[in-house]
Amino acid sequence: MSEHLLEVKDLAVSFSSYAGKIRAVRGVSFHLDAGETLAIVGESGCGKTVTVKALMKLYGNSAAFIEEGSSILFKGQEVVTMNNKELSKLRGEGIGMIFQDPMTSLNPTLTVGYQIAEGIRFHDKSVTKAEAEKRAAELLALVGIPSPEERIKQYPHQLSGGMRQRVMIAIAIACNADIIICDEPTTALDVTIQAQVLELLNELKEKTNKAFILVTHDLGIVFDFADRIQVMYAGVILERGTKYELFDDPHHPYTWALLNSVPSKQSQRKGSLYSIQGTPPDLMMDIKGCPFADRCDYCMPICKERMPQEIAITESHGVSCWLEHSMAPKVKAPAAGGEE
Ligand SMILES: Nc1ncnc2c1ncn2[C@@H]1O[C@H](COP(=O)(O)OP(=O)(O)OP(=O)(O)O)[C@@H](O)[C@H]1O
Ligand code: SF4
Ligand SMILES: [Mg+2]
Repeated sequence: MSEHLLEVKDLAVSFSSYAGKIRAVRGVSFHLDAGETLAIVGESGCGKTVTVKALMKLYGNSAAFIEEGSSILFKGQEVVTMNNKELSKLRGEGIGMIFQDPMTSLNPTLTVGYQIAEGIRFHDKSVTKAEAEKRAAELLALVGIPSPEERIKQYPHQLSGGMRQRVMIAIAIACNADIIICDEPTTALDVTIQAQVLELLNELKEKTNKAFILVTHDLGIVFDFADRIQVMYAGVILERGTKYELFDDPHHPYTWALLNSVPSKQSQRKGSLYSIQGTPPDLMMDIKGCPFADRCDYCMPICKERMPQEIAITESHGVSCWLEHSMAPKVKAPAAGGEE
């Protein structure tokens, strides 16, 4: 039995396509405990969404499949082998998800109150329609929507983008899930609303003992929200650690590059924002060595030959890079903010 709320081991997810197999997630392992927030960061296409959807086997009609040898333990129960009935219970009661674009996740033909109440009644058949509606209004109030009794009667298009995202959060917490996954929860929102939604998520974190997974390509929002961070690239985790370890003592060249891509006051003033050159590898191909090798300023011959194993810097801080090898040349992280 796993001692963690969630324990993922060697998770690999692929897509079948006419052109061949797309190996989107290539063996990731991580855990999550109650009350903590894990951020998964990395460029577009690195496998963040595929990873978190796998936690609920939420692939809809896509050609995704979890590869043999993968394990996802939620409260000690194997998710990979769950049947549809078990998965329906897991989705909502165990793990809830907030997506990037609430407009595509909410049903435009149903009132928001109905959509929140529907989830509550699906998971608890003893709740009456009136009780579920009352609870829906309470949840809207909890996520900071004024006049909730009026709002529950409205349709998604009658609400602003920020309010729709709050409705998504209400749906995600309606069934009291232990884990809330936030997949780019603020990307579609403007900066002020983004800050309000993040503040709301922070409040929920403080008021409840829920665990959160925050998926984002924006390292700028991670520090205030996350406890631990894992950096993904081409379907693997290249570095993981507490937020202090990752921000104050990053070891991986890709993490350095990501951190230097975050706009700082200094870089904005000088117009010197760093951007990572090149593109990630083709996920249909076998990747022999380090997946970042073609874009890395520190690449050595071994990097193209063998994938580095994860080296533990501390109990919580791990890095997969040949620069950690005792025989490798000592290099220093470039200064932050794109400054040399
Ligand atoms: N429906 C699909 N069919 C085929 N391949 C897919 C599909 N969805 C994702 N992939 C593959 O999986 C890879 C990872 O996708 P994923 O959605 O997890 O990226 P991401 O890290 O969430 O990116 P973003 O920041 O843009 O949301 C993609 O690069 C793509 O190759
Ligand atoms: S293993 Fe080599 S190529 Fe990969 S990040 Fe480290 S130094 Fe760069
Ligand atoms: Mg995504």
